Amino acid sequence: MKNNGLRASYWQKDDFMVLDQLLLPGKIVYIQCSTFRDVVSVIVDMNLRGAPLIGAAASAGAALFFKECKDHDTVLFSRMVEELLSTRPTAVNLGNVLDEAKAIYKENISLDSDHLFNMFRDFSINVHTRDVERNIAMGRNGAQFVADLLEGKKLNILTHCNAGALATCGYGTALGVIRSLHDMALVENVWVDETRPYLQGARITAFELDADSIPHKIITDSTAAHLMSQNLVDVVITGADRVALNGDLANKIGTYSLAVNARYHNIPFISAMPVETFDMFIKSGKEIEIEKRSDRELLVFNGKRIAPENSEGLHLGFDVVPAELTTALVTEKGVVSPVSTTSVMEMIYG
Ligand code: MRU
Repeated sequence: MKNNGLRASYWQKDDFMVLDQLLLPGKIVYIQCSTFRDVVSVIVDMNLRGAPLIGAAASAGAALFFKECKDHDTVLFSRMVEELLSTRPTAVNLGNVLDEAKAIYKENISLDSDHLFNMFRDFSINVHTRDVERNIAMGRNGAQFVADLLEGKKLNILTHCNAGALATCGYGTALGVIRSLHDMALVENVWVDETRPYLQGARITAFELDADSIPHKIITDSTAAHLMSQNLVDVVITGADRVALNGDLANKIGTYSLAVNARYHNIPFISAMPVETFDMFIKSGKEIEIEKRSDRELLVFNGKRIAPENSEGLHLGFDVVPAELTTALVTEKGVVSPVSTTSVMEMIYG
């Protein structure tokens, strides 16, 4: 197992255990979630994050609902689903996993809560297992594509946020591709954007790369364009939180400027995600809801305010990369390149 065998979340008997990512890399502490509201809290508070992992946590939340609620009915179930859905609006995996949960509930509504708890815990374990399998396949597909595109060159790769084992149930999406490239001895260095304000890059991606002995250097987010201008970046690889049918994708704020800069410097921009991250109901990125978070997260650093008391901030969690800037979308089913509605539909349904 990569990443020192650390798992972002797992089931321990009837409780769902969540690695507190806010304490990384200094402390390894797991939060015990015994109720579905515990799961809501860890998602809202960012103890757990990353689109596929948020989806997996939602499956655990649905299971824990039946542990508490001995007299379930459709109204209570729908209320629980709505509460989970409102936690992180951009990550579509959340809605997609909850759609599966709704279908399971509809089929088994006559069972008592104890049976449903066991059934949903099994579902949640399955969501975890299948995510790792998808990521390994995605890593292989993406690494082969990049190796062919850049003719086996040893690469300087730039990545943003954390799209690794800890943003998923294991191995990672963008970091899965990077891990596979490393296994092929094709990684010279990974430039890790620190990713303000939660520092998912500096704290979590660097932690994962360090654990796997993959050479890397952390940079401020605004260093990326300069490195590109100096021919120090061969390829940009990121994850995604929601992809529209035309290939427009939402990812951590700052991804759009990376894609624009990559195009200007003629550098491939590649994004990796499971098919579950596609939103089958939206035609373009214009329809993606962008999560707006409290400006406190921006204006307060390490518990101390860093801006004048009267200054307000704007803290958007994500931005949208138009399909025309993306060289390839990498999934467990294959690689979409060039990116268009037709090629996306072929990959999903072909
Ligand atoms: O706000 P976060 O930390 O949940 O944002 C995570 C990202 O933007 C990741 O790049 C994305 O979820 C893909 S993770 C496999």
